[in-house]
Amino acid sequence: MSLDFLGNLQRTDLCGTLRAADAGKHVVLMGWVNRRRDHGNLIFLDLRDRSGISQIVLDAELCPEGHKKGEQVRPEYVVAAVGKVRLRAKDAINPKMPTGEIEIEATELRVLNDTRLAPFSPAEDAIQNEEVRLKYRYVDMRRPEMQRNFKLRHEITLAIRDNLSQQGFLEIETPILTKSTPEGARDFLVPSRVHPGEFFALPQSPQIFKQILMISGFDRYFQIARCFRDEDLRADRQLEFTQVDLEMSFPRREDVFGVVEKFLQAGFAAAGVDLPVPFPRISYDESLRQYGTDKPDLRLPGLVDVRAAFTDEQLATLQIDPALPVVAFRIPNVGELSRKEREDNHPLFDLKKGAKFIDDFKRLAKGFPESAVKVRELAGASDADFVIIVAGDPAHHIKASDTKFPGRLSEREINVYAAAGNFRSELAKKYADRHGAFKVTEEVVAAAQSRADAGLVNGSKAFQPIWLTDFPMFEYDLAAGKWVPAHHPFTAPYEADMANLVSDPASVRADCYDLAMNGLELGSGSIRIHRKDVQQQIFASLGISDEEARQRFGFFLDALEYGTPPHGGIALGLDRIVMLLAGAANLREVIAFPKTAKAIDLMADAPTTVTEQQLKELHIRVALKS
Ligand code: AMO
Repeated sequence: MSLDFLGNLQRTDLCGTLRAADAGKHVVLMGWVNRRRDHGNLIFLDLRDRSGISQIVLDAELCPEGHKKGEQVRPEYVVAAVGKVRLRAKDAINPKMPTGEIEIEATELRVLNDTRLAPFSPAEDAIQNEEVRLKYRYVDMRRPEMQRNFKLRHEITLAIRDNLSQQGFLEIETPILTKSTPEGARDFLVPSRVHPGEFFALPQSPQIFKQILMISGFDRYFQIARCFRDEDLRADRQLEFTQVDLEMSFPRREDVFGVVEKFLQAGFAAAGVDLPVPFPRISYDESLRQYGTDKPDLRLPGLVDVRAAFTDEQLATLQIDPALPVVAFRIPNVGELSRKEREDNHPLFDLKKGAKFIDDFKRLAKGFPESAVKVRELAGASDADFVIIVAGDPAHHIKASDTKFPGRLSEREINVYAAAGNFRSELAKKYADRHGAFKVTEEVVAAAQSRADAGLVNGSKAFQPIWLTDFPMFEYDLAAGKWVPAHHPFTAPYEADMANLVSDPASVRADCYDLAMNGLELGSGSIRIHRKDVQQQIFASLGISDEEARQRFGFFLDALEYGTPPHGGIALGLDRIVMLLAGAANLREVIAFPKTAKAIDLMADAPTTVTEQQLKELHIRVALKS
């Protein structure tokens, strides 16, 4: 069909904002045709823009030309409608739409653009094929859900930025073309044209630069910082992602916690969620014991030690290692599993690393009725709760399994707790519809949805933050037979533990902290080393030679010698925060142009090969293995 020019037509309103009180108003709306219904003399167009939908009525008598065009327009055509707002007849009112009481009686329709037939319609709710969604991302992002996610992201980011500024933080940008940062992932490298054979690295985080900004006297820095890590993608990991990154001079750990609690509260409030502060805290060891993980999900009951429910003989009969923890957990309201369900769960039951489970409570109850009752009692389980026991497999030995450091959990103990912890969250996800603990996210999505109309809605217990502290400074690498840093090597040890750095490394705690929420690591940070002598000691205890340290971080070590104040900070994953608040299951739902699990941008078709000329300029020759 022939297309119309926009001419001097000016939009007066957004489609989703008109209400009954606007009746009689002359309006010009512009947007995409969401749906079209042809009733002969009357054609209805649902016109959509980012604010919502209004119904346009094209009446063959009142607007013959517009009606004629209306016969030809199709979904996703771009049109402008000129007309008058009128109240709908009583029986035509749609209470589900915010604009459901009105419609636009059109006097003119301009068709501004047509469209190729898209592989799916943004008007449909559920689109299954994610590859198609990502390839046609521009169509996908027209969907109200995606529009809502990005509006939410904008509002959260704005609130956080504003709050940090109010707390005295300066936003300072740090380089993207830089040198490798020690965050443990692979670097993305950029070849230098001017310096043959030399490469920039994209920052895995602004870590070193933000520490230097403290040496420069900025006192409080923050950045909504893009980071790049060449690592395997998961639901909560992208190759490029965004951190709310901050650093402070002269802080105690408490000061960092206070700053984060304030800006996070502001960010959540922007999404209609009330986040009570201060957040609870737990030590790393305690988190392993209670949740089997260092990113606990507090929406579910934790692990309970049920060793006391069994005698040594019973454990021997059950082939359970009496020297290891016997832990139980319950998933509320799931009930007993049928044999078929147990079989279906078998891939989940495949607990590696020397842990075993008892899932068949009926059998246990028959053999050891008293123990079974005691377990349920200790776990605080009601009849409707599903209870699982995870314990140590005596047949399983790992090399150096006796590596037990005083005051720390042994490798084998950690394996049992970790297996139980994984299992707890996998089963909880699987039976989420039955136990109900995760259901509240829907409520939050609804809150975000209705925010525009209803103002801020107070949140619920859907979001459960927790600080993790008292991480060990070093981990023992069994294969390499040496201590390795559990965090980046600029993390300070507890002042009280400094004396043990060489004599008893296992007992040294790091002054670092994580923030977890709903089973996700939201953030991580630490108080840093600000003294050269301490930094040297740490390098020495890690087996990093002066030469290696110079080569890797020479410029930073130099800077440390020019009046470095005590400092510390943290970085939170912005994408993860938005993902939680949007009720999404994957970061891709809240990143406009994300990569697939295979690390591809399907829409832009990146990465791609480049021309010979480009390679030549960069002094690069590609040698592919055939
Ligand atoms: P860390 O490496 O723990 O710490 O990162 C901090 C937070 O960034 C988010 N994050 C990611 N989000 C999406 N995709 C990824 N691939 C990804 N990797 C990390 C997580 C994580 O908790 N410089 C230190 C912070 C500091 O010490 O101040 C750092 O980067 O939410």
